[in-house]
Amino acid sequence: MAPASSAGNRASLEPCEKTPRFSFVHGDIGDSALVDELVASRAIDTIVHFAAESHVDRSINAPDVFLATNVLGTHTLLKAARRQMESLPASERVRFRFHHVSTDEVYGSLGESDPAFTEHTPYAPNSPYAASKAASDHLVRAYHRTFGVPVSTSNCSNNYGPLQFPEKLIPLTLVNALEGRPLPVYGDGMNRRDWLHVEDHCRGIERVLERGVCGECYNIGGGTEVPNIELVRMLCRRVDVRLAADAALRARYPHSPAGHGGRSESLIEYVTDRLGHDRRYAIDGRRAEHELGYRPARTLDQGLDETVDWYLAHEDWWLPLRINSRPEFLSSATDPSSRRSVAACCRSGSHTTA
Ligand SMILES: NC(=O)c1ccc[n+]([C@@H]2O[C@H](COP(=O)([O-])OP(=O)(O)OC[C@H]3O[C@@H](n4cnc5c(N)ncnc54)[C@H](O)[C@@H]3O)[C@@H](O)[C@H]2O)c1
Repeated sequence: MAPASSAGNRASLEPCEKTPRFSFVHGDIGDSALVDELVASRAIDTIVHFAAESHVDRSINAPDVFLATNVLGTHTLLKAARRQMESLPASERVRFRFHHVSTDEVYGSLGESDPAFTEHTPYAPNSPYAASKAASDHLVRAYHRTFGVPVSTSNCSNNYGPLQFPEKLIPLTLVNALEGRPLPVYGDGMNRRDWLHVEDHCRGIERVLERGVCGECYNIGGGTEVPNIELVRMLCRRVDVRLAADAALRARYPHSPAGHGGRSESLIEYVTDRLGHDRRYAIDGRRAEHELGYRPARTLDQGLDETVDWYLAHEDWWLPLRINSRPEFLSSATDPSSRRSVAACCRSGSHTTA
């Protein structure tokens, strides 16, 4: 399901459209009549709940829709799941599952030397996005404890990979480097994130569905913690190498510094830090490893190589999204007047997360 207002993009579903088991319904998870009808009429026994408003910057600028979708929308799905579960004979209830896709941002921010988040780390969300996801996690738990709905939750780190909306840090940096636009980096750039390739994330969710215990939560991480500025530089280096090696790419992106012997890093601009910006996230993935046999299959270097190649090969996918994006998400998450140049900043800095 997807509403017209969100970061969803129908073109991203094209590879699935050929699968006979796939069907697309254009609707809102907060529409209880539609959700109830779908769950009942299709005899659904497994719901994997990905739908969310997910961009932290948007949640700071306009929090209401985050509560509507992430909290009330999740509650609508839980009510439908409960009804569906209760309609099944007891023997079939064991096969029913509601899996909730959540985030490590519910745990708040770590200090430099704090241990990584475990499944027992107390919740301390700092952004409206994180607070809305924390609320939804609590509702999922409550529906299990109170009504016996068979649920599971995964709290994962920052995702990246193909088909990611170009307002998130990695695709934003890539397409801005190709188009010669500023690469906005929040604060001093030393906010650290654990990066998880989207296919590793989905494998982790599959493991929870297959082997996870009902009512339990599992942290899923990528196993690589990187300061945001270092991540932006890793992307810049990859863009430079690819354009240096390919005259057709240089011709396609004439505004990229790499298109005429320059360096993409010259586009980095430090911008005023995000309000309430969490300093560090890190996932302790030992529970998922021991109990589910889950480990990420890709290193960050492998995943970034694949991701850069995917964006270079799929301009037809991201260019229309750029053209239709709001201007503030094209070049900077903040007002341009808040930008500081690299020369004016003593340390390197970064930008947005999920
Ligand atoms: N991207 C990350 O780094 C990250 C990290 C941790 C957790 N997550 C979680 O993973 C899930 C997916 O995140 P994403 O990055 O793919 O987000 P996204 O914003 O790219 O996609 C969210 C999807 O939800 C759909 N959606 C939004 N509101 C809806 C509504 N009211 N009704 C129906 N559909 C709706 C959108 O159409 C879109 O397809 C979210 O629950 C998010 O909280 C993401």
